[in-house]
This record gives sequence, C-alpha cells and structure tokens, in this order.
Amino acid sequence: MNIVRTGNGIRNFTDTGLVARKVDFTEIPQIDFGPMASEDIADRLKVAAALKDACMNVGFFYLRNHGVPQEVIDATFDAAKRFFATPFEEKMRIHIRQSNNHRGYGPLLEENTDPTAKGDLHEAFDLSLDIPADDAEVLAGHTLHGPNVWPESVPNFREPLTHYYDEMILLGRRIFQAFALALELDEDFFAPKIKRPGSSMRVLYYPPQEGVIDEKQIGIGAHSDYECFTILAQGGDVEALQVLNASGEWISAPPIPGAFVVNIGDQMARWSNDLFKSTLHRVINRSGRERYSIPFFYGCDYATILTPLPNCVDEEHPAKYEPVTAYEYVSGRFAETYGYFKKEES
Ligand code: OGA
Ligand code: NI
Repeated sequence: MNIVRTGNGIRNFTDTGLVARKVDFTEIPQIDFGPMASEDIADRLKVAAALKDACMNVGFFYLRNHGVPQEVIDATFDAAKRFFATPFEEKMRIHIRQSNNHRGYGPLLEENTDPTAKGDLHEAFDLSLDIPADDAEVLAGHTLHGPNVWPESVPNFREPLTHYYDEMILLGRRIFQAFALALELDEDFFAPKIKRPGSSMRVLYYPPQEGVIDEKQIGIGAHSDYECFTILAQGGDVEALQVLNASGEWISAPPIPGAFVVNIGDQMARWSNDLFKSTLHRVINRSGRERYSIPFFYGCDYATILTPLPNCVDEEHPAKYEPVTAYEYVSGRFAETYGYFKKEES
C-alpha cells in the first residue's frame, strides 16, 4: 500500500509501480451534458444523477456534448505549442515567481505536486481572472486575484487563451448547477459563491520520458486538485493521464475526442463532507511524443468559507473538515507545491 498526503488528509493506493490498468470505456462514465440545457428539470436531474453516480463510484468522468466549440480548444492548444516552443530565456522573462498572484511561466521541475517526489516533468503557463492591480480586493490581500501576464514574443496567444478561459467560466457554472442538484441543493446554491471565483487555468507541456523512469520524477506526481472540480482537455491522442478510481486502482484515462475529463477537487470534497472525494491523479508520458493539456480549476470566491454542507453531515457522517476560507486552503496548498510561493508567503 502506498500513500499520498493531500490537503484533505492521507490517501491510500495499491502500489503497482507506474502501471495503470487499461479499462474498457464502459468502466469510465461518459456523461452527456446536453440535457443540462433542457427547460425540463427532469432532464437536468438525470444529468445530476449520472454525475453523482460517477463521482461516488468512479471518481471522475468524461463530459460530452459540453457545448464548447472545438475551434476554441484547438486554437488554445495551437497557442500553447507556439509558446512552449519559444526559447527558454524568452519564457523565463515571465517566470511565475515575478508575479504576486501566481501568473506566468513555470519551467520543468518548478513544481513538486507530490511533496515526497523530486519535481514534476512539465512546463506550465498559468492564468486566471484578469483583475487590475489596483482593485480593492487585490489591495486588501487574502486573494490570488490580480492581473495576468503575457509573453511579448508570441503573437495570437492572449486571445485564444482568454476566449478558452471565458468558455470554461460559463461551462463550469453549469457544472456547478449539476453538482448542486446531485447534492440535493437548490440548483443555484453555488452561484453566490462563484461571483469572482478563484479559478485558474494552465496550459501544460509534458516532454516524453524515455528509458527507466524514476517513480519520484514523473510528468505530474500523484495529487488531488485544490478547487471544486477540474475540467481537463487533453491534446492529441497521447495517453498519459492516470486517475485513481474509487477502488484504489490507477486507471488510464486516454483522451476521447470532443470530451473533457472532469474530476473532483478538494473544495468539493469539503463541501460534500467526502461524499464526493477529491480524485487522485498523475501523469506519466511514456508515449514517445510531446503531450499538451489544459486543466481549468474551478474554485469558489476566495472569501468563501468552505464547510461541510448540513445535509452531508449526520451522526453517521460527522463533519470531517474545519471551516476554512477558499484563499486559506488554496494558498496553503500552493505553499506546499511551489518552492517560490512558500518563500514569498512566509
Ligand atoms: C494538474 C493536472 C493533468 C494533465 O495540472 O493538476 O493534474 O493531464 N493535470 O495535465
Ligand atoms: Ni491535477
């Protein structure tokens, strides 16, 4: 048995080295999101029931028929490739440590998502809501809001990424409605908590790993995400993502054209008192090809107090988590993952 320490506690998994079981697609739920747009609540409740089943029994799902135009996704992958192909010195001009609010470029080994490992083998570009530096909330602190940074030397980069970001904000609002229905809450329960959400987006580049692989140095070490849920686009047909299913086995989650992978993050685990546990996942790119991905992490407004929902707590299921603000939670997790962040915060 192996363990991963997450912000929500220790988690176990069966130790099978770097191997993931390949499963028939029928074992990984594919949710047709189309009926969420229906006027008929019965249709929306069916989506919510499928989501609940997926979250409780598997831990993640593919989202189909999500309404985000393929051109928007393709244009963002194209921009990502052009950015990562620019010279190292150019990328380093917008190194993430120069930003007060976690925006910009992270080179190979900048992060160590699994604190017991030796660094992650990916490059990243991070953006989030673009909020001016003189905004009252930014000036007051306790937030990671602030302005985005952009590379000067990559034409047509900001536009596609911003467009993609905006699409995710809209899609994510609808996913929140499905989560609310799945938790037997008012459909708009989360709406007041995601007015100015702490939601970040990354474009990631994973070089191929050849030869013998050190288990402690892979594309991204085993971890759970820190927000409510993550909407992930995988580029090309490179199989590298592995997700821990509800039975504690690593399952390969290859890209399915036209579908996003959605997984639960720590904030949703806290709201639901672990009815929906956050999904452990990792990336190992042994395909021999370059891999690109775009995760979008949808979190609550930074001042929101994350606390187990009353209808998820009873005698049998006492509250597992102390109240904490979304800012305290996410910034605490960043401090564990990023060397640069810890130094600046302390
Ligand atoms: C992450 C992550 C998966 C991927 O950035 O948190 O898990 O496929 N990414 O890039
Ligand atoms: Ni992740």
